Amino acid sequence: MSVAGTEVLLEFLGTPDGTAAPRLAATRPAADERDAWWHELAGALGILADLGYTHGDLSAYNVLVHDGRPVLIDLPQVVDVVGNPQGPGFLERDVRRLGEWFTARGLDPAAPERLLTELRERSRLRRP
Ligand SMILES: Nc1ncnc2c1ncn2[C@@H]1O[C@H](COP(=O)(O)OP(=O)(O)O)[C@@H](O)[C@H]1O
Ligand SMILES: [Mg+2]
Repeated sequence: MSVAGTEVLLEFLGTPDGTAAPRLAATRPAADERDAWWHELAGALGILADLGYTHGDLSAYNVLVHDGRPVLIDLPQVVDVVGNPQGPGFLERDVRRLGEWFTARGLDPAAPERLLTELRERSRLRRP
């Protein structure tokens, strides 16, 4: 993704023949892949949190798996966690909804709660 002024440009994610990358929801990761994808997504959410944002509509349908790595899509409603009164609620919903998909597939159930605590802290640090 690249950000130019007020525009967000996202390149096509898929194969050169035009087949789109699969949604996370359509994948069946092995345990090591599942944990690696969770870790990558946690990193992406951390970057957003450091900027004071959360995705706002995160689920296994708004993540594509491209070249073996998860990519967030569908970000037009990205939410200001601090300035928006509903921000903390969106952050919580994002992490819980994504976390439920992963824990239903064997991720450590403590991981989403840990991430939520961390992201709350990071978004708070960003803008008091
Ligand atoms: N294969 C893809 N490559 C790049 N971006 C995609 C791809 N599929 C979807 N997107 C992006 O995600 C946005 C939302 O897609 P999608 O989740 O399918 O729609 P919605 O949830 O709004 O019905 C699209 O507008 C597009 O920017
Ligand atoms: Mg979508």
